[in-house]
Amino acid sequence: MRLSADEEAILAGEGGEGRRWAMELLVALGTIFGAEDLVAIASAQLAGVSYKTIGDWGLRWLQDVSRTSVVSVPTFLNPAGMDPERWELMGVEREFAAKQRSILRTYNRMGVELTCTCTPYLIGHLPAFGDHLAWSESSAVSYANSVLGARTNREGGPSALAAAVIGKTPRYGLHLDRNRRATAIVRVDADGAPVDYGSLGVLVGRELGMSVPLFTGIAPRPDDMKSLGAAMAASGAVALYHVEGTTPEAATALEGAARLPTLDVTQRMLSEVRESLTETIPARVDLVALGCPHLSLEEVEEVAARLRGKRPRRDGPLLWVCTSKEVKKRAHDAVRTIERFGRVLTDTCMVVAPVESVARTTATNSGKAACYLPMDAFCSQRVVYGSTAELLDLVAE
Ligand code: F3S
Repeated sequence: MRLSADEEAILAGEGGEGRRWAMELLVALGTIFGAEDLVAIASAQLAGVSYKTIGDWGLRWLQDVSRTSVVSVPTFLNPAGMDPERWELMGVEREFAAKQRSILRTYNRMGVELTCTCTPYLIGHLPAFGDHLAWSESSAVSYANSVLGARTNREGGPSALAAAVIGKTPRYGLHLDRNRRATAIVRVDADGAPVDYGSLGVLVGRELGMSVPLFTGIAPRPDDMKSLGAAMAASGAVALYHVEGTTPEAATALEGAARLPTLDVTQRMLSEVRESLTETIPARVDLVALGCPHLSLEEVEEVAARLRGKRPRRDGPLLWVCTSKEVKKRAHDAVRTIERFGRVLTDTCMVVAPVESVARTTATNSGKAACYLPMDAFCSQRVVYGSTAELLDLVAE
């Protein structure tokens, strides 16, 4: 890799131990992936926040790093393992809460903003077209690349933190024009029915893995693209996609392309995927969890609108509606309505929280959550997948 004199000096330890380890990690990563140099980033978003995902080893590593490191660009966090104010209501144990608070304090010592959300772009951290970033959370990465036209690889927690400390990331992968072109076409014909973007994302992720798909035949709203990208990143490893007539790089996505593989998606295929996400219909749903990715203001208001005029079902499941602190604050009236039926939780989600302590069967409207909740995945749950309306019928009558 080509390094500037300043970068060489940091690597030699002249900027202190904190900047030395970070530069060493970035250079190693860049060398592995054939990067020519480092590129300045506008912001970093860090995964590895929930105590459930990083455990004691991760906490110790962060504490070590925090003794010598501070971030040098705006840096914010992925959801944590609990709502910092309502963790007891979530069934989180005292010891878990103490460790989680310790993780957040450690990030804060390094200058990281304690904004714990997978939708930072909805609450003021909106990258500009062409900005280079080092973001970690896969749905946020997908949205930043695809919908906003910013440029980020899917970083791991340590590499995003190293980039945040140096303010740069190795220039490879999706930072380069040549890797942002479509590598597959997805033609969707849903027979005029509304498209279930969670199912579509799961299907395309399963079929196309790490491709850069160009979609035709759909006209998603921003919230639909949030669900679509999250599901493709979970069932496959799609970090960038284009939608004809909608996303900012779609018009140039086919430049120089040879004949690309094409996936034709029908309504029937979407129905089959949708059915496959519900393992078996269980006798009882313990938890209805909405908000993967974190809900936008419009989505919180939609949930409230569907609940107005109804009452909680006797013995119905718990309801968690997950969003960011800022959206919750803005959705004041909607939150009051929803809280008659369940909890509006912030800074956390049904996947990175210890959901196992309150539920064995969780119902979700998210393709991504449906991939991570099951027994053989991350949360030991039986999963029911359905639309927002279907799920709210379980909690309200
Ligand atoms: Fe966000 Fe948690 Fe889903 S981090 S994308 S709500 S798994």
